[in-house]
Amino acid sequence: MRRLLTALAGALSLAALTGPATAVVGGGPADPAAWPYMAAIYQQNGKTIWQSQFCGGTVVAPRLVVTAAHCLWNKAGAPAQDQSTLRVRVGDPKLDGTVGTSAGVVAIARPPAAEPPYRPDIAVITLDQDLPVQPILVSGDSRWALRAGAPAWTAGWGLLQEEGASAETLQDVKLRTLAPGMCKTLVGATAFEVCAGEPLIGGTDSCQGDSGGPLTGWGYDKREYLVGVVSNGFGCARAFLPGLYTRTDFAPVAAWLESQGVPVVRDTGGSAGPSTKPVVRVLGGTMRVGKPFRVSYTVRAATTRTVEEIILIKDGQPLDFDTTRLSRSRAGQTYYLEMERRTPASFQGKVGACVVSVDEFGNTSVRRCTVLTVR
Ligand code: ARG
Repeated sequence: MRRLLTALAGALSLAALTGPATAVVGGGPADPAAWPYMAAIYQQNGKTIWQSQFCGGTVVAPRLVVTAAHCLWNKAGAPAQDQSTLRVRVGDPKLDGTVGTSAGVVAIARPPAAEPPYRPDIAVITLDQDLPVQPILVSGDSRWALRAGAPAWTAGWGLLQEEGASAETLQDVKLRTLAPGMCKTLVGATAFEVCAGEPLIGGTDSCQGDSGGPLTGWGYDKREYLVGVVSNGFGCARAFLPGLYTRTDFAPVAAWLESQGVPVVRDTGGSAGPSTKPVVRVLGGTMRVGKPFRVSYTVRAATTRTVEEIILIKDGQPLDFDTTRLSRSRAGQTYYLEMERRTPASFQGKVGACVVSVDEFGNTSVRRCTVLTVR
């Protein structure tokens, strides 16, 4: 959290935020059949499973569960849990013990922490018995799943809203991944993290208690993959503050997972070979106070799988506005970004509009920035 605050202090004016949105995440009760690999991590401590669940996890092999390192180690790097009473449970959406299977823990591992604690925030739990569920495939292929704008899902028993109660039954929510550059700007994401939520607006997110759980996406091969692990966030579901997920496909993380015996799929069916970089031009303009405003940009050359986002920046801070359109680019076509709310007076002055693009290989770049005059 401290790291996020530091990153945010420079990037964002917290006063400009709209505050916590309604629900964790804006999700709903999950269909348990859609999440066979969803695991709850808890302590057998005399309380109910629901009461003692503290993190989520994902079954990636019959005896292996992926979770977040911060679920199992404290900031000083010491184990945070009594391993002899640590349990993993699957097949129990209400965590009431009426259905499902629990397993004990024989080992926990995390990547060597080269950086401050928990980075990368991922861990593997080895169980004392096979779990009777279908494990999910793990993506080691950044070409598709972490494309900006790709749909992704997360699930857990965590808080239903930032200051709210824990879910009584497993919840899930559909998110969208944001471009790495946006994740870096907004929430200080590093190369081994991706952020996801509803870009700029908020309202959907994971929250406290969901940590360690899955972020899943679909490969070009139409199979579902684990692409990330719920790691961190600034509040929950706030505008401009998407949640942070540890990427399974970041090369050192994927290699480490393999070293732990986790099967990692390197090719999720993306097209071969490098794509053509898009050339994007922002046509500058004048925004007038009290009038709706739109920015247009023309894509000169692009592959069909390139995605663009426009961000507006004023005094070094991303600006809040109601709608952003993520478009699939077509060469020669002009796209418009419309601000549905009328341009507020506070926009007066100079505003930078930048187009950020991401191709299917996850290559992100700021394509073009222009200065708009606001009168
Ligand atoms: N660190 C939190 C936990 O221990 C999860 C944070 C996820 N937060 C978010 N806004 N996505 O459960």
